[in-house]
This record gives sequence, structure tokens and C-alpha cells, in this order.
Amino acid sequence: MKSVVLPKLIIHGGAGSSLHGKGGVESVRRSLYNIIEPVYSILLAGASASEAVVYGCQLLEDDPRFNAGTGSVLQSDGQIRMSASLMDGTSQSFSGVINVSRVKNPIDLALFLQTSPDRVLSDFGSAELARELQIPSYNGLTDLRLQEWIQERQENFTKAMAGVVAEPELAEASNARRGTIGVVVLDAHGNLATGTSTGGKGFERIGRVSDSAMPAGNYATKYAAVSCTGIGEDIIDECLAPRIVVRVGDGMSLQDAMQRSFAEAQENKRDFGAIALDASGAIAWGKTSDVLLAAYHDGVRLGDTLEIALGTEVGGLI
Ligand code: GLY
Repeated sequence: MKSVVLPKLIIHGGAGSSLHGKGGVESVRRSLYNIIEPVYSILLAGASASEAVVYGCQLLEDDPRFNAGTGSVLQSDGQIRMSASLMDGTSQSFSGVINVSRVKNPIDLALFLQTSPDRVLSDFGSAELARELQIPSYNGLTDLRLQEWIQERQENFTKAMAGVVAEPELAEASNARRGTIGVVVLDAHGNLATGTSTGGKGFERIGRVSDSAMPAGNYATKYAAVSCTGIGEDIIDECLAPRIVVRVGDGMSLQDAMQRSFAEAQENKRDFGAIALDASGAIAWGKTSDVLLAAYHDGVRLGDTLEIALGTEVGGLI
């Protein structure tokens, strides 16, 4: 039996361009800390890594500011299609849904699929599953995301992605982009898990598949766990989450694995970020985007990455 360890937690609400000013930074920080605190409390009360990951993802999906669940961006045809996945590091099992509509918390479907023989379902299959589980129909559309889509349609969909956070002043002033949410946990028994959920890039072609419901964007073993955010195609091309996790399994420290992987990503001109934990309790983050909206609890205090330098940066706590 594993001995009791101090739980660790890191979450993100996307990566992208600068939030332009203290107002934006402070309000995003408040949102992230309001989620970190209750999730850390259930970890102290004995929740498993997967339970805490699911709870954190639900809270992030329910916050209309972030691009997942309520507040998801619209695709090119004006519809919301969401993707989410959960990976338990101890069982090393991945489950997820791709392009699901009309559910409040896509991560709940990923959780159900953890124990199913068929662990990743796409659009029609996820809709069937939601019906089977009698999950009520839910519309996560917000006025801000609708306005953003209408504006984009007027401009003939020239942007590569929708805004990372949905707030008039932020979307307007910063053109901040690339939203996804993610939660990575080390529980009191030393078990790791990770979850990632997204409304996608925004304005994308129908049927485009996000990295968030692939191991490339969300991966865990008993050694390390990683959730990614940013341009899905870049994350898939780097196979980012397993690249970091496998390096740790092969004996590299988490910090070195992040450094190496982000140096390669910078070389390849990628645009993304990642959060990570390892089994020893080391916390790490990395980004090639300007900003990474991440916050963590190391067992003693809360911290975040909102004001680290623009451009490629890797950091963490051992
Ligand atoms: N990383 C989210 C997406 O590209 O769909």
C-alpha cells in the first residue's frame, strides 16, 4: 500500500495572447483560484485523483469565461461541439468524447467511459450515450460567444481560432486566443490523473477533431500526467502530452522533460502550453504561447502563471 502524500493540483483555462492589463489578469486569477480551492479541499478530504480531476473539469466547464462546456466557442456552422477526455495514471486508461453537443459537462461522459469496453466515442455515439444515461439536454451557448461568431462571419472567418476567454473587454482588447480547460492531480495516495475539455478552436470545419480528446493533448501514467492547451494541430504534431510523460517514465526529471519538449516545440514554431505533475509531487508548466492561464496548489500555497514572461517559458516547483 502507498504511503500518504501531500496532494498537488494544477489547472488551466487556456493559452494564448496577452490578457492586456491588470483588470484581465485579476479577473482570470479570481476565476482560477475559485476553482482551485474547492478541488483542493476534496483532495484533502480523501477524493481520488480521477474524482478531483472530474470535479475540477466540471467547475471549469461551468465557468462561461472558459472555452469548454458553458461558454464553448462556435464552429464554422454556428454550432457548439465539445470534446473531453480523462486519463487515470494508475490504471493507465484513457477515455473521452469527440464533438458532443447539448450536454452540460462533457467530462461526465469521459468518466462514464473509463469503465466501458469502448472508451472513446465520437459525435453520434456520444449523443446516444448521453441519451442512454438520461443526461438532460443543455445549451452552453453564451451571448458573448454568439457575438464573437457573428463578428467573425461578417469578416468571413479570417481568424484561426476564437478567443481564449470570453469577456467583452478581453476579447476586444487582446484578441486573446486558444481556449481549453485542464486539470492535473496527484492525490493523497500518490495516484495521478488528468482531464482536458474544450469547445475546440472555434470557426473550424465540421468534423475537425481536437487534441483534447486524444492522448496527444491529455495523457497520464503512474509516473507523470499532462494536460495541454493551444492549437490542437500543433499539439498533435508534437504528440506533446505523451512526449513529456514518456520522458519522465524513462528517468528524466519532470522539469528536464518539459524543458526538452518545449525547446523542440519552439524550434518547430508551435503555439501551445501544458501543465504537468509527477509522482514525486513536482509541478511544472510550459508554453510557447504568450500567456498560459494556469494556477496551482502545492499543498501550502496557491500560485499561478498569469504574469510570467511572454513567449516560450518553462517553470515549476519541485
Ligand atoms: N486545443 C484545443 C483545440 O485545438 O481544439
